[in-house]
Amino acid sequence: MPRVFSGIQPSGELHLGNYLGAIRSWVRSQHEADAFYCIVDLHALTVETDPAELRARTRQTALELVAAGLDPDACTLFVQSHVPEHPRLTWLLECTASMGELRRMTQFKDKSAGAESVRVGLFTYPVLMAADILLYDTDRVPVGDDQRQHLELARELASRFNARYGTTFVVPEAAVPPVGARVMDLQHPERKMSKSVSSPLGTVLLFDEPADIERKVKKAVTDTDGEVRYDPEAKPGLANLLELLAVATDRAPAAVAAEYHRYGDLKRDVATALCDLLAPARARRNELAGDPGAIDAVLADGAAKAQAIAADVYHRAASAIGLLAPA
Ligand code: TRP
Repeated sequence: MPRVFSGIQPSGELHLGNYLGAIRSWVRSQHEADAFYCIVDLHALTVETDPAELRARTRQTALELVAAGLDPDACTLFVQSHVPEHPRLTWLLECTASMGELRRMTQFKDKSAGAESVRVGLFTYPVLMAADILLYDTDRVPVGDDQRQHLELARELASRFNARYGTTFVVPEAAVPPVGARVMDLQHPERKMSKSVSSPLGTVLLFDEPADIERKVKKAVTDTDGEVRYDPEAKPGLANLLELLAVATDRAPAAVAAEYHRYGDLKRDVATALCDLLAPARARRNELAGDPGAIDAVLADGAAKAQAIAADVYHRAASAIGLLAPA
């Protein structure tokens, strides 16, 4: 089976964009691949975070992922900081990466632009991400478009290391999810749904109450021409609603559009479809919430399984680069 690895920030509350853009394909992959999913708490430290909040969000993210369908018996779910090989391999890779290639990363340029002080960790973020991936002899990495450049860097660092020190790492491939998996903000349909760009009305959380989902969909921004047709350029808000109903019911957006004449009817059905789509996850979350120890046990087990592999790969790399193994 191919090995799949992906990572997610511990933002605490998953939203529909995370779910349709990534998590749903993670859930599918866990049965077709040897899947490793990592909650990247070390990456979260590259921007200001409150310690208690980070801890709570890390556990909450794990709980929501399991509720959303990740099955700890089918995949390995773990927290990045629980496997110390991640920062250890990062150092080796940092000693093969150049300042110039990291400076070219567009995410770094965006996040550091205009900042008075920039953390070193924000700069080396993509090297830690490369270590995440390379530690597991990963074949495929499902990532959104925004992470493509980071994945390219991981491939480059792996090839360079292999060329200089002998074959050590598997060079991973990107698996970019199909279009339509890009969910836009309901209030600002020109930008991606996101929790960090705060837009409470525009963001549907995975565990919003059905009444909240209905309210948010009802208030979603559309346009005034009143015609239901699929036109992402001219009618981004309506196109987003059509895409949501399309992915929720496994159809094409244009086919969905043909069935509606009124925005109100479309919105009503989008809300119903989303509530139905998310109902099983909601039920699982309520079960899990009653047993807080269960998630910690899942993460402990995941870290043990992950470390068994990561330790091997780390030692392979350490030995190749010339570090003397402890006697
Ligand atoms: N940087 C990724 C993001 O923000 C998260 C991530 C960290 C990741 N390590 C990874 C994704 C390894 C894929 C593989 O979305």
